[in-house]
Amino acid sequence: TRIDKGGHKHFMAKEIAEQPGVIGQAISHYLSDRGEIMLPDGGIDFTKVDRITMVACGTASYACMTAKYWFEQIARIPVEVDVASEFRYREPPIPDRTLAVFVSQSGETADTLAALRYCDGKAQSILSVINVPESSIARESDLALPIYAGVEVGVASTKAFTCQLTVLLLLVLKAANDRGVLDDAALADHISALRGLPSVINTALEQNDMMRSAAYKLSSARDVLFLGRGQMFPLALEGALKLKEISYIHAEAYASGELKHGPIALVDEEVPVVVLAPKDALFDKTVSNMQEVMARKGKVILVSDADGLSEASHGVWESIEMPKVADILAPILYAIPAQLLAYHTAVAKGTDVDQPRNLAKSVTVE
Ligand code: G6P
Repeated sequence: TRIDKGGHKHFMAKEIAEQPGVIGQAISHYLSDRGEIMLPDGGIDFTKVDRITMVACGTASYACMTAKYWFEQIARIPVEVDVASEFRYREPPIPDRTLAVFVSQSGETADTLAALRYCDGKAQSILSVINVPESSIARESDLALPIYAGVEVGVASTKAFTCQLTVLLLLVLKAANDRGVLDDAALADHISALRGLPSVINTALEQNDMMRSAAYKLSSARDVLFLGRGQMFPLALEGALKLKEISYIHAEAYASGELKHGPIALVDEEVPVVVLAPKDALFDKTVSNMQEVMARKGKVILVSDADGLSEASHGVWESIEMPKVADILAPILYAIPAQLLAYHTAVAKGTDVDQPRNLAKSVTVE
């Protein structure tokens, strides 16, 4: 079947807009009518898993980093995350009862596949989260979980990222429930919140004009900083990656708490700082980092919900309002502003959004 842009200017815009639909599909593929999480092929016995190693490249590695927060906080399983190119040559010792998880849109990334083969050689259980079911990574796994994102054409990954997060979150909830650290009632609450996610993402997409106007302001910057704390830190990394990939603006992400250990030296009135901060338990901490930026005349773009903005948006350069969601869903939701800020900045700069220079959709050679 021929894939077209469906009336959008770029594949990336189309793929961003598709997210409510494909996320909804991914969720329904893994839920039974009675609302139980079902994994293919008998799934995994999480009561026999003591630790998890997660390995990927690029955007998929940020999905892994986000999942680390979830696995550790919700399922109480310690997780190590690494990029495949480092993991494979470090030859890390892998204790028994470790589950190795590989995340890849294409399922063909050379370094990720090599890392998988390394773990396979150590007789580890191999789980993969992939978009292409017939890919090498899927075939060489003990269990492959498809993300049901559909074909992704834009080189900068968007819908595959949010579908990876969705499937990983379902896996975390299943693990937590199987291990007895998340009771059925709490699981049911999370699942009903998840079922509402597509419509919440729609609401976020409706903020497109706000993101476009913030992006016009970003487009003249030379450097941009992204800040986030806790589970929003990987999202800050993803926002910075998207921006540099398609707009060619230098962007870096830091865990908010690290600001004072270096990056604050860069901040002056020339440097926009994007702060991803839903009103959660860590909000006040992130806001105090944001105020340190503003005290140095840094121009803050604050992305938060209505409560967060009413508390902290005074004096910011630009604010972007996200709908309120359950805390654990915030990383999936805040992918939308990360993507749209980069997209509109690239459009404003006139770069080749779908085929950015020097980049490939799938890196199948080292
Ligand atoms: C390339 C793409 C990225 C992607 C990464 C990993 O760098 O441009 O969008 O995140 O490869 O690809 P994979 O197919 O393994 O997810």
